[in-house]
This record gives sequence, structure tokens and C-alpha cells, in this order.
Amino acid sequence: MKRTITRSIAGMPASDGAGVKLNRLLGQPALDFLDPFLLLDHFSSDQAGDYIAGFPEHPHRGFETVTYMLAGKMGHKDNAGNEGVIAAGDVQWMTAGRGILHSEMPEQTDGLLSGFQLWVNLPASDKMQEPRYQEYSAECIKSEHREGAVIKVIAGTTSNGTVGPVADIAVKPLYYDITLVSKASFNEAIPEGHNAFIMVFDGLLTVEDEVANSGTINVLSSGDSISITAGTDGARFLLIAGIPIGEPVARGGPFVMNSKAEILQAFQDFRQGHF
Ligand code: FE2
Repeated sequence: MKRTITRSIAGMPASDGAGVKLNRLLGQPALDFLDPFLLLDHFSSDQAGDYIAGFPEHPHRGFETVTYMLAGKMGHKDNAGNEGVIAAGDVQWMTAGRGILHSEMPEQTDGLLSGFQLWVNLPASDKMQEPRYQEYSAECIKSEHREGAVIKVIAGTTSNGTVGPVADIAVKPLYYDITLVSKASFNEAIPEGHNAFIMVFDGLLTVEDEVANSGTINVLSSGDSISITAGTDGARFLLIAGIPIGEPVARGGPFVMNSKAEILQAFQDFRQGHF
């Protein structure tokens, strides 16, 4: 059965970190949560004042943060001694697990900075695991070429067998960055049972006659495949899917657990320096 678009929602202008302007697609009033995905932000600006303040040191517990860069450079540093810079086309999949303290700061003072941050929930059994990083440079991310289409495979395996480098993630995610030329069509399998969405960030596309415009997140119905057609100016979009966890979600700032008590514990552990 083909998937369709059940909801198309415009992102909401928001500010996070020390004042980074961004477009919040998931984790906003109109779309609070799409199990297992908790948040999706798109930051994209060539005005340094919109991003220069960055995301100074802050903690996370109980989920995963995924940063995928389109342009510019973002530095990161954490309390486990990891440090690096991710640039255009690179991805960092950080499993915060029981706790990490990190900062994410632009490594530039002018020019375009653009990318995405996705938050992926962890099942209760994995929330207190050891923190873990998977970081891959653009060269490690394979591009699959089809007629009129290029699919960058960050996570998951396409129906043609292109495998993304990100591995061993609880929700078995697909994370594809897809570019279609004018009017090109793209057909792909999406495992039945995965929740899935499309975030369009350039041009527009249609799915079974439903239009998805640039700057929108589009929730997909259930099904095992999808057919997408680009508009006349082509389209670029993220296709993301994952297995829903189906557990209670308790959020408290940078912590995502299953109960309020676990959130309070996270704040206490953080204050007592246990991260
Ligand atoms: Fe963070």
C-alpha cells in the first residue's frame, strides 16, 4: 500500500541555545511528537547574528541527537573529552544515553550555516546506556543515483541496497537526503510499521496529488512504499522513518524519560555532577 500525506505542517520560527534562530518543524504546538521522533529543527541563515551565539554547554539524557549539516561548520565538545567539527554533508548521531554535557558552537563568523537537528527517542531499556557517538564525514555517506534523483543515505538501506553508515540504532531509522530534478519521480519502499515523514527544504513535491511545500513537515500514512514527484523547480527533502517505541514520554528540558520521577532524577543527577 502506498503511503500518502496525512498532515502538511509549516515550521514555526523559534530560537534555541543562546539565541540561534531556526525553523522548528517537529516539537511545536501543531506537531508535538511523531513517535519515535521528538524534535526536528532546521537552522539556515547567512546572517551571523542568527547563529553566532550557538548552543553553549547543556546536558542531555534519554534520547539521541542527530546533527546533519548542509552548509558551514559546527564545532562540538563534550565532558567525555570528545571534540570535533562537522561540516557540510557530515552527520553526527549522538546517543546521549544516561547523560552527556556538550556544546555545539558555529566554527565561523560569517557565511551560510545550515543544517538539521533531529531528536530520536530511546526505548526505556536503552535510556541509561553509556553515551555513544557515530560521526561520519560526507565521504562516508553514499549517494545512490537514479534517473532524476540522488539519494544520500545517512541511515537505513534503500530498496537498491545502498546502506547508510549509521548503525545499531534502536528504532531502525531511515534518514535519506533526496534531491529530485524538475518533474522527476521517486519510488521507494518504507518498512510497514515505521512512522515516517518528509521535510521539504527546497522546491516542492507531490505525493499522490498532495502538495508538500518548502519549509513543511509532512506526516505520512501507514503503508509499505511511497511515490514522490518533484515540482517544476525540482525538490530537495529529508525522508525520515523509524519504529514507534509506544512508551510513555516524559519531557523536561533537555531530558526525555518515561516518567516525571525519572525527569526529576535526571535534574538531580545533573545538579550533583553525575553526568
Ligand atoms: Fe545538544
